[in-house]
Amino acid sequence: MSVSAALSLVRSQTRRQRYDQKKTTAQKNPISICAVNFGCDENLGYLIRAAACFGAECLHVIGNLPDRAYLIPVSGSLIDYVKIIQHANPHDFLAWTRQNDVDVISAEIADGSVSMYDVDFDMSRKTCVVVGNENTGVPAEILHNSKIMHIPMPGIGFCLNTAQTANIILFEFNRQLNERVQREYLRTGS
Ligand SMILES: C[S@@+](CC[C@H](N)C(=O)[O-])C[C@H]1O[C@@H](n2cnc3c(N)ncnc32)[C@H](O)[C@@H]1O
Repeated sequence: MSVSAALSLVRSQTRRQRYDQKKTTAQKNPISICAVNFGCDENLGYLIRAAACFGAECLHVIGNLPDRAYLIPVSGSLIDYVKIIQHANPHDFLAWTRQNDVDVISAEIADGSVSMYDVDFDMSRKTCVVVGNENTGVPAEILHNSKIMHIPMPGIGFCLNTAQTANIILFEFNRQLNERVQREYLRTGS
Protein backbone atom coordinates (compact mmCIF):
# COMPACT_ATOMS: atom_id res chain seq x y z
CA MET A 1 0.00 0.00 0.00
CA SER A 2 1.34 3.45 -0.85
CA VAL A 3 2.03 6.00 1.89
CA SER A 4 -0.82 8.23 0.71
CA ALA A 5 -3.25 5.29 0.64
CA ALA A 6 -2.20 4.33 4.18
CA LEU A 7 -2.62 7.94 5.31
CA SER A 8 -6.11 8.24 3.86
CA LEU A 9 -7.05 4.96 5.55
CA VAL A 10 -5.82 6.36 8.87
CA ARG A 11 -7.79 9.57 8.34
CA SER A 12 -10.95 7.68 7.49
CA GLN A 13 -10.93 5.98 10.88
CA THR A 14 -11.91 7.44 14.23
CA ARG A 15 -9.28 7.75 16.96
CA ARG A 16 -10.88 4.88 18.83
CA GLN A 17 -10.73 2.64 15.74
CA ARG A 18 -7.05 3.46 15.31
CA TYR A 19 -6.29 2.82 18.99
CA ASP A 20 -8.18 -0.47 18.93
CA GLN A 21 -6.17 -1.55 15.90
CA LYS A 22 -2.83 -0.56 17.45
CA LYS A 23 -3.78 -2.21 20.74
CA THR A 24 -3.35 -5.65 19.17
CA THR A 25 0.41 -5.09 18.79
CA ALA A 26 1.03 -2.42 21.43
CA GLN A 27 3.77 -3.07 23.97
CA LYS A 28 3.36 -2.85 27.75
CA ASN A 29 6.63 -2.10 29.52
CA PRO A 30 7.59 -2.75 33.17
CA ILE A 31 7.25 0.91 34.11
CA SER A 32 4.43 2.91 35.63
CA ILE A 33 4.04 6.52 36.75
CA CYS A 34 2.55 7.83 39.96
CA ALA A 35 1.04 11.33 40.01
CA VAL A 36 0.82 12.88 43.45
CA ASN A 37 -2.12 15.19 44.12
CA PHE A 38 -1.85 17.15 40.88
CA GLY A 39 -3.38 20.60 41.20
CA CYS A 40 -3.80 20.99 37.45
CA ASP A 41 -6.15 18.45 35.83
CA GLU A 42 -4.60 19.08 32.42
CA ASN A 43 -1.31 17.68 33.66
CA LEU A 44 -3.01 14.40 34.48
CA GLY A 45 -4.48 14.29 30.96
CA TYR A 46 -1.01 14.80 29.46
CA LEU A 47 0.34 12.07 31.72
CA ILE A 48 -2.34 9.60 30.59
CA ARG A 49 -1.45 10.35 26.99
CA ALA A 50 2.28 9.86 27.63
CA ALA A 51 1.64 6.62 29.55
CA ALA A 52 -0.40 5.24 26.65
CA CYS A 53 2.12 6.34 23.99
CA PHE A 54 5.17 4.96 25.82
CA GLY A 55 3.51 1.68 26.86
CA ALA A 56 3.50 2.29 30.60
CA GLU A 57 1.91 -0.59 32.45
CA CYS A 58 -0.42 1.65 34.44
CA LEU A 59 -0.81 5.02 36.09
CA HIS A 60 -1.08 5.50 39.84
CA VAL A 61 -2.93 8.51 41.14
CA ILE A 62 -2.63 9.63 44.74
CA GLY A 63 -5.58 11.86 45.55
CA ASN A 64 -8.55 12.86 43.45
CA LEU A 65 -9.26 11.91 39.86
CA PRO A 66 -10.86 14.55 37.63
CA ASP A 67 -14.05 13.66 35.74
CA ARG A 68 -13.57 11.22 32.88
CA ALA A 69 -15.39 13.67 30.57
CA TYR A 70 -12.74 16.31 31.28
CA LEU A 71 -9.89 13.85 30.74
CA ILE A 72 -11.10 12.59 27.35
CA PRO A 73 -9.94 15.58 25.25
CA VAL A 74 -6.81 16.39 27.28
CA SER A 75 -5.62 12.78 27.13
CA GLY A 76 -6.11 12.57 23.35
CA SER A 77 -9.02 10.18 24.05
CA LEU A 78 -6.61 7.71 25.66
CA ILE A 79 -8.21 7.65 29.10
CA ASP A 80 -9.90 4.29 28.39
CA TYR A 81 -6.62 2.67 27.34
CA VAL A 82 -4.60 3.26 30.50
CA LYS A 83 -5.19 1.34 33.70
CA ILE A 84 -5.47 3.81 36.59
CA ILE A 85 -4.94 2.72 40.18
CA GLN A 86 -6.06 5.29 42.73
CA HIS A 87 -4.61 5.58 46.25
CA ALA A 88 -5.92 7.71 49.10
CA ASN A 89 -2.49 8.85 50.30
CA PRO A 90 1.29 8.23 49.96
CA HIS A 91 1.19 5.61 52.71
CA ASP A 92 -1.35 3.46 50.83
CA PHE A 93 0.61 3.86 47.60
CA LEU A 94 3.85 2.69 49.24
CA ALA A 95 2.03 -0.27 50.81
CA TRP A 96 0.71 -1.22 47.37
CA THR A 97 4.20 -1.12 45.83
CA ARG A 98 5.58 -3.33 48.60
CA GLN A 99 2.75 -5.85 48.21
CA ASN A 100 3.26 -5.93 44.45
CA ASP A 101 7.07 -5.97 44.53
CA VAL A 102 7.45 -2.75 42.58
CA ASP A 103 10.58 -0.55 42.88
CA VAL A 104 9.85 3.13 43.48
CA ILE A 105 11.94 5.98 42.08
CA SER A 106 10.99 9.57 42.88
CA ALA A 107 11.63 12.20 40.23
CA GLU A 108 12.78 15.16 42.26
CA ILE A 109 15.54 17.72 42.52
CA ALA A 110 16.78 16.90 45.98
CA ASP A 111 19.98 16.47 47.94
CA GLY A 112 21.52 13.13 47.06
CA SER A 113 19.38 12.59 43.97
CA VAL A 114 21.04 10.72 41.10
CA SER A 115 21.27 12.19 37.62
CA MET A 116 18.99 10.44 35.12
CA TYR A 117 22.11 9.92 32.97
CA ASP A 118 23.45 7.59 35.66
CA VAL A 119 20.26 5.56 36.14
CA ASP A 120 20.22 2.05 34.68
CA PHE A 121 16.64 0.83 34.88
CA ASP A 122 16.35 -2.78 36.01
CA MET A 123 14.22 -4.26 33.24
CA SER A 124 13.79 -7.53 35.12
CA ARG A 125 11.70 -5.72 37.74
CA LYS A 126 8.74 -3.39 37.75
CA THR A 127 9.51 0.28 38.41
CA CYS A 128 7.17 3.08 39.34
CA VAL A 129 8.38 6.66 38.89
CA VAL A 130 6.70 9.24 41.12
CA VAL A 131 6.18 12.80 39.94
CA GLY A 132 5.07 15.45 42.39
CA ASN A 133 2.46 18.10 42.86
CA GLU A 134 3.10 21.32 40.91
CA ASN A 135 3.78 23.33 44.09
CA THR A 136 4.73 20.96 46.85
CA GLY A 137 6.63 18.25 44.93
CA VAL A 138 6.95 14.59 45.93
CA PRO A 139 5.88 14.06 49.58
CA ALA A 140 8.64 13.42 52.11
CA GLU A 141 7.22 9.99 53.00
CA ILE A 142 7.77 8.81 49.42
CA LEU A 143 11.17 10.50 49.10
CA HIS A 144 12.35 8.70 52.26
CA ASN A 145 11.24 5.35 50.89
CA SER A 146 12.57 5.51 47.35
CA LYS A 147 15.57 6.19 45.19
CA ILE A 148 15.57 9.76 43.89
CA MET A 149 16.56 10.84 40.40
CA HIS A 150 16.68 14.20 38.69
CA ILE A 151 16.78 15.28 35.07
CA PRO A 152 19.81 17.53 34.55
CA MET A 153 18.76 21.01 33.44
CA PRO A 154 21.65 23.04 32.01
CA GLY A 155 19.43 26.03 31.15
CA ILE A 156 18.23 28.96 33.22
CA GLY A 157 15.07 27.25 34.50
CA PHE A 158 15.18 25.32 37.74
CA CYS A 159 12.11 23.09 37.51
CA LEU A 160 10.24 21.25 34.75
CA ASN A 161 6.50 20.83 34.47
CA THR A 162 5.54 17.63 36.30
CA ALA A 163 3.87 15.90 33.30
CA GLN A 164 6.82 16.84 31.08
CA THR A 165 9.10 15.26 33.64
CA ALA A 166 7.21 11.97 33.30
CA ASN A 167 7.42 12.22 29.49
CA ILE A 168 11.20 12.56 29.58
CA ILE A 169 11.64 9.65 32.00
CA LEU A 170 9.31 7.40 30.01
CA PHE A 171 11.31 8.23 26.90
CA GLU A 172 14.58 7.43 28.66
CA PHE A 173 13.18 4.12 29.93
CA ASN A 174 12.13 3.15 26.39
CA ARG A 175 15.49 4.25 25.02
CA GLN A 176 17.32 2.00 27.48
CA LEU A 177 14.93 -0.89 26.82
CA ASN A 178 15.42 -0.57 23.08
CA GLU A 179 19.20 -0.36 23.49
CA ARG A 180 19.22 -3.60 25.51
CA VAL A 181 17.01 -5.40 22.99
CA GLN A 182 19.38 -4.35 20.20
CA ARG A 183 22.44 -5.45 22.21
CA GLU A 184 20.82 -8.83 22.91
CA TYR A 185 19.98 -9.21 19.23
CA LEU A 186 23.60 -8.52 18.22
CA ARG A 187 24.82 -11.01 20.85
CA THR A 188 22.44 -13.87 20.10
CA GLY A 189 21.11 -13.11 16.64
CA SER A 190 17.52 -13.32 17.85
C1 LIG B 1 7.14 22.04 39.41
S1 LIG B 1 7.89 20.78 40.28
C2 LIG B 1 7.51 21.13 41.98
C3 LIG B 1 8.62 21.67 42.70
C4 LIG B 1 8.24 22.13 44.09
N1 LIG B 1 8.03 23.53 44.07
C5 LIG B 1 9.34 21.77 45.06
O1 LIG B 1 10.18 22.62 45.27
O2 LIG B 1 9.34 20.65 45.53
C6 LIG B 1 6.78 19.44 40.09
C7 LIG B 1 7.40 18.09 39.96
O3 LIG B 1 8.07 18.00 38.72
C8 LIG B 1 9.12 17.05 38.82
N2 LIG B 1 10.35 17.68 38.32
C9 LIG B 1 10.47 18.93 37.81
N3 LIG B 1 11.72 19.15 37.37
C10 LIG B 1 12.42 18.01 37.60
C11 LIG B 1 13.75 17.58 37.33
N4 LIG B 1 14.63 18.38 36.73
N5 LIG B 1 14.11 16.33 37.68
C12 LIG B 1 13.24 15.49 38.27
N6 LIG B 1 11.95 15.84 38.53
C13 LIG B 1 11.54 17.07 38.20
C14 LIG B 1 9.18 16.60 40.26
O4 LIG B 1 8.52 15.36 40.37
C15 LIG B 1 8.43 17.71 40.98
O5 LIG B 1 7.85 17.24 42.16
